[in-house]
Amino acid sequence: MSIVVSGIRATGQLHIGNYFGAVANFLRMQEQDQCYFFIADYHALTTHPDPAALKANSRTVLAEYLACGLDPEKVTLYYQSDVPETSELYMLLNMQAYVGELERCTSFKDKVRKHPENVNAGLLTYPVLMAADILLHKGQFVPVGKDQEQHLEMARNFANRFNHFYQTETFPEPYAYNFSGALVKVPGLDGTGKMGKSEGAANAIYLNEDPAAVKKKIMRAVTDSGPTEPNSPVSEPIANIFTLMGLVSQPETLQHFQSAYADCSIRYGDLKKQLAADMEQFLGPLRERIKEFSANQALLDKTALMGAEKARESARKTLTEVRQVMGFR
Ligand code: TYM
Repeated sequence: MSIVVSGIRATGQLHIGNYFGAVANFLRMQEQDQCYFFIADYHALTTHPDPAALKANSRTVLAEYLACGLDPEKVTLYYQSDVPETSELYMLLNMQAYVGELERCTSFKDKVRKHPENVNAGLLTYPVLMAADILLHKGQFVPVGKDQEQHLEMARNFANRFNHFYQTETFPEPYAYNFSGALVKVPGLDGTGKMGKSEGAANAIYLNEDPAAVKKKIMRAVTDSGPTEPNSPVSEPIANIFTLMGLVSQPETLQHFQSAYADCSIRYGDLKKQLAADMEQFLGPLRERIKEFSANQALLDKTALMGAEKARESARKTLTEVRQVMGFR
């Protein structure tokens, strides 16, 4: 049985990128592995949310995890901030992390470019906190989307460096993982790049989004002027729509539109209408469950309490070992 650790930042509702990049893996792995899944509320602090928003967003992520099918009896499901050992390991690992390598991290450079007014130390050491989350439970597999690959490489470096420096085998090497093979990158609706919360509201489809709003977003998704000759290459915006279709539609549906593209008979209006209908098939039941779990405060509290206890037990064990290895009394 492998040890699996992963998290989602507490910055708001989950979108289908989160679902297919990470959560779909959680659902499968909970059946066979020892899983620790958490709501990364410390990580959410880099953007300075106000306390009410942080609380609401954290709760939303927990309710949506449950609605997606995570079973708190099978996995350890917890709030990161309920496990203070996380902070201790983060601090200790920071001593082995070099400013140069942190500055070279793509997501850090991205944030510096987009928000030069808020380049805080937490942003720089974000990958160290992530490594702490994983190594805290001696995680081996980390189900994440493609965008987290570099962070996992850094977590591996920190683990190896610690082991090497202290001549120990305390930490295993953690790997980014997708249950069904390659890491996933779910595209957004704006024609370029990945779906993400920070890419603008029109770019992401949220699990708990109103059906009319979802349809409107899909109908407005960026396309191109259409294929002009048979078998012409597929442009990025259309490839993205095909990718989304691949996630929620029947394979024959996708094939039908791909063939229509190849022989130039495709009508983008029909393509989008079909995607919107299939998206609703996927989201409808999920939306209902999100409503139910969001209304059940007692269950959310019970889940968080149980998760915190189980996570702390594992975290304490690791920290005791780490402290011993490092020479603390
Ligand atoms: P976050 O909250 O940005 O994203 C949560 C998960 O969703 C995946 N994801 C995507 N996958 C495919 N396509 C997309 N468009 C897409 N957008 C998001 C992310 O890859 C991620 O798996 N740093 C992490 C949270 C975290 C964490 C950890 C994860 C904190 N500590 C320890 C793993 C292990 C993050 O920002 O995720």
